[in-house]
Amino acid sequence: MKKMGFTLMCALLLAIGCRPVDPKHEVTTLVLEYPAHFPEPTLPLDNELTEEGVLLGRHLFYDVRLSGDNTQNCNSCHRQESNFAEPTPYSTGIDGIDGNINAMVLSNLAWQDFFFWDGRDGSLEDQVKEPIVNPIEMHSQWPDVIDKIEQDLTYNELFSKAFGTTEVSKEKVAKALSQFIRTLVTGTSSLDSYIEGSYSFTSSEQKGFDLFNGEQGDCFHCHGLATTGYQMGAFGLLQFSNNGLDSIYQTGDGREAVTGSAFDRGKFKIPSLRNIEYSFPYMHDGRFQTLAEVVDFYNMGGHLSATIDPNMKAAGSGRNWSEVEKKGLIDFMKTFSDPTFLMDTSFSSPW
Ligand code: HEC
Ligand code: HEC
Repeated sequence: MKKMGFTLMCALLLAIGCRPVDPKHEVTTLVLEYPAHFPEPTLPLDNELTEEGVLLGRHLFYDVRLSGDNTQNCNSCHRQESNFAEPTPYSTGIDGIDGNINAMVLSNLAWQDFFFWDGRDGSLEDQVKEPIVNPIEMHSQWPDVIDKIEQDLTYNELFSKAFGTTEVSKEKVAKALSQFIRTLVTGTSSLDSYIEGSYSFTSSEQKGFDLFNGEQGDCFHCHGLATTGYQMGAFGLLQFSNNGLDSIYQTGDGREAVTGSAFDRGKFKIPSLRNIEYSFPYMHDGRFQTLAEVVDFYNMGGHLSATIDPNMKAAGSGRNWSEVEKKGLIDFMKTFSDPTFLMDTSFSSPW
């Protein structure tokens, strides 16, 4: 009798377009796992990690129904084997239109404060809404996405478990996607073992380490504590910088698009170098195919311009590294590789 009443109420509520929220709804809190040498991430209080939310987000990440013509999902441009980036300089959206910027890696984003190459979004929850409706990416409309998802029985169950209701909304989709993305933690590379004291560098890696973290190579000023990893912002270091890729920038290039300040022209988000071996091509426009090309660029010193970072001290003159030194830098950067992360099946498609 009671059950009948509830079903009836549901049917009624559905008919008027509103789905009930289960008052007894419970979730399982998920504690983010990361190495002891990482700082604590600042997670949003209004989107706590739960097992149910992460599972829902994982389904959404790999679902082509989020795109306008059911052909593209987040994974089309963010592939696990590429550290969740894409092996081409530019991505192509569902309408065959090429983007003009390299897809970014998605790892250790729980430690980051700004998203996109120009940092235009300050929260992951805001960021993940964009690709779904971006005309040169998944080119969908929210009412269509919500409709498609609400009609699916699997999602009815996933949403009920995560949010206590089968009702789908833009906010819930964004929350679940963000939760899943926050679980993409890479922290079991040789570099991590080195920091933990259980790995010794080869002599070539050691040479690279010394260059990277010393005034000779100067990479550490921008690429974070012993490189890499988790985000520099967490250490009060630089977040956006012009590393001298070009001598001429257009108005609005890079961070200037957000701040409107010419002082920010040509400054881009300093990317994490985690799994850098696998996330080619490199730079915001994917101009370098290999790490050797990247090292040749830094060896050349970079191009002078009004906003070049003062830490690019060899701009215009060059570093004059030997082949052994260049190889050392590359070998050291390969110690950031974490094959376990790239093959972790809890990040792969649940479908
Ligand atoms: C057509 C290719 C494409 C698709 C599909 C796509 N992305 Fe992206 N993604 C990109 C590109 C390109 C950038 C960098 C854009 C920029 O900076 O303007 C990016 C950036 C991001 C970032 C910022 C990372 C950082 O470090 O700042 C996140 C997070 C992200 N995407 C998540 C997603 C999610 C979630 C989906 C699915 C809903 C998705 N993307 C679908 C191409 C794509
Ligand atoms: C002044 C700050 C700065 C210094 C110093 C610096 N970098 Fe960078 N690096 C950046 C920025 C900013 C980017 C992204 C630039 C872009 O795409 O516009 C970048 C990009 C990279 C990339 C490509 C990352 C990707 O995902 O595409 C690699 C690899 C790299 N740097 C390695 C190094 C090494 C090795 C050194 C030292 C020899 C170094 N960097 C020194 C700021 C710096």
